[in-house]
Amino acid sequence: METKIVTISENDFDFEQKIQNAGEIIKKGGLVVFPTETVYGLGADATNPVAVKKIFEAKGRPSDNPLIIHISKPEEAENYTYTNSSYYRLAAKFMPGPLTVILNSKNTVPLSTRGGLSTVAVRCPENFIARALIAAAKTPIAAPSANISGKPSPTAAMHVIDDMSGKVDMIIDGGRCDFGLESTIVKIESEDTLTLLRPGKITLDDLKTVFPNVNVASAVTGALEKGEKAISPGMKYRHYAPESPFELLDGDVRKAIEYIKKENIKKIAVIAYKEELALVSSNLPNAVCYEFGAYGDGFEQAQRLFYILREADKKNFEKIYAPLPSKQGVGLALYNRMIRAAAHTIIKL
Ligand code: TXA
Ligand code: MG
Repeated sequence: METKIVTISENDFDFEQKIQNAGEIIKKGGLVVFPTETVYGLGADATNPVAVKKIFEAKGRPSDNPLIIHISKPEEAENYTYTNSSYYRLAAKFMPGPLTVILNSKNTVPLSTRGGLSTVAVRCPENFIARALIAAAKTPIAAPSANISGKPSPTAAMHVIDDMSGKVDMIIDGGRCDFGLESTIVKIESEDTLTLLRPGKITLDDLKTVFPNVNVASAVTGALEKGEKAISPGMKYRHYAPESPFELLDGDVRKAIEYIKKENIKKIAVIAYKEELALVSSNLPNAVCYEFGAYGDGFEQAQRLFYILREADKKNFEKIYAPLPSKQGVGLALYNRMIRAAAHTIIKL
């Protein structure tokens, strides 16, 4: 299949035309990759089982791993789910934005879109291209992250092209994604209780401003126990992982340098905080160093994490090292992605 690559920015004189063309592809059952404020999404008409099947094929995704449906206004959820007052409390505060809410599904959403579950995940993105595309398609757009299953999500069109060229009808290049990690996912348990299934830009503290009780699913910060059932099917799959072994170092940077030296591996990459980069590269002259962003700047680190992992992956390192992030604020989202990417390999220094 020939993949059209279209660059779109807000001030394009032909913005409307480009979006209409992309919307037509979705209406006809094709695949369009589009930017969101979190990561790039691989989109198809969520109500068309034939189109949805193509998403699973292009990604190599197990069919029991459900998709998020993207809507252009929070009220559109009415057509596809059984909403409640809790949903609208979340919507008033966080939509449009990087929040996904799990609700009971109506029959208007095919079973294949929701991986056979009775629930469906709904998200109203903020990115202007995403919103315009959903409106032009006149249907909700089912979209997982636009990577081959298991790889880090793409946050730049170049990384989408690496994975999806020849497998989709169109890739919209809208530049780098603002946040760089996938949306926060919550499940509404009752009037005043939420469960956080996947942390993101909307933090635990943000959610607690609206809901007094927010439980954190145990898989967010740990591995599933043997035999434990995943609340979210995506939790059970290997995720975000580079090809090279990836290790998280829990401790002071000087101890990290000593540890890496002792390992004595030739071809390595080290992800280091901005303030520690010079120290790391002068002590480990053979290492390729990637700047993670300033220490304590979770937003900059979120923006860079998947980008760095995908770039590093092109170089076949024998090992990639990174500091273990804190679990505070957006740190929890970084922590969640990084422990999975590292297959839970955390070295206590
Ligand atoms: O930021 C995002 O959410 C991006 C952009 C494109 O919107 N999308 C995204 O989709 O990250 P995906 O498919 O890569 O991750 C969605 C996660 C999966 O782990 C899936 O198992 C979970 O959401 N999920 C989807 N529907 C669910 C449901 N009904 N119940 C529980 N978990 C669900
Ligand atoms: Mg994904």
